[in-house]
Amino acid sequence: MHNIKLKDLVAKHPEVTTFLNARNIDYCCGGETLIFDAIKEKGYEVEPFIRDMKKALADSLKQDEVLDKDTLTMASNDLINYIQKRHHVLEKDLLVTIEPLLYKIMNVHYEHHGEELKQVHHLFMTLKRDLEEHLLEEEKHVFPRLKAQITVSEDGTLSWMEALMADHVTTGELLHQMKKITHDFALPEDACPTYIKTYGLLNNLVNDIFLHVYTENSILFPRYLPK
Ligand SMILES: [Fe+2]
Ligand SMILES: [Fe+2]
Repeated sequence: MHNIKLKDLVAKHPEVTTFLNARNIDYCCGGETLIFDAIKEKGYEVEPFIRDMKKALADSLKQDEVLDKDTLTMASNDLINYIQKRHHVLEKDLLVTIEPLLYKIMNVHYEHHGEELKQVHHLFMTLKRDLEEHLLEEEKHVFPRLKAQITVSEDGTLSWMEALMADHVTTGELLHQMKKITHDFALPEDACPTYIKTYGLLNNLVNDIFLHVYTENSILFPRYLPK
């Protein structure tokens, strides 16, 4: 397992992303890195890391069959449908659900946690605006053209794809900032049930976007980009 690239590991076992996200291992933009190098770079001991990762994998496989798909070998049109069904629908829902909850906890907990919550709120609202537009751009412009198997250098599709990949980088930075400000969505001692729910949903959203971006950047888009 040491010599496998991060992108191949995640393609085979998408459920490993929760484990990697919690340790800030970047498989989205750093997908070409070997798992061995990524572990060392973050200052972890390799053997215990691999052992814990295998255990986390085994545990999550027992619980989660939805993610048990091999996106690496999926036909491209099926992969596009899978991304929309698995990621776009879920993320749109989460964005709409989280917004009023986040406002509510910022209002109620302003006195003690206002500084953190204001920053999270600001980042979230930026993420919501950007991601909603990004998803539509994919659904309305780029995915239909990829499905029609056009040559991407025709009719501006290549520039659209490049813009989408630039969005992925910006989004990744936003997510890392959110994780940093919240110390990986750590809850304060006086967190109420709404606070717990909001941070839990935000964490789910962030994990889902990381996997989503990885699937587009490392598996889908490279199939169409000029060699
Ligand atoms: Fe997407
Ligand atoms: Fe995307």
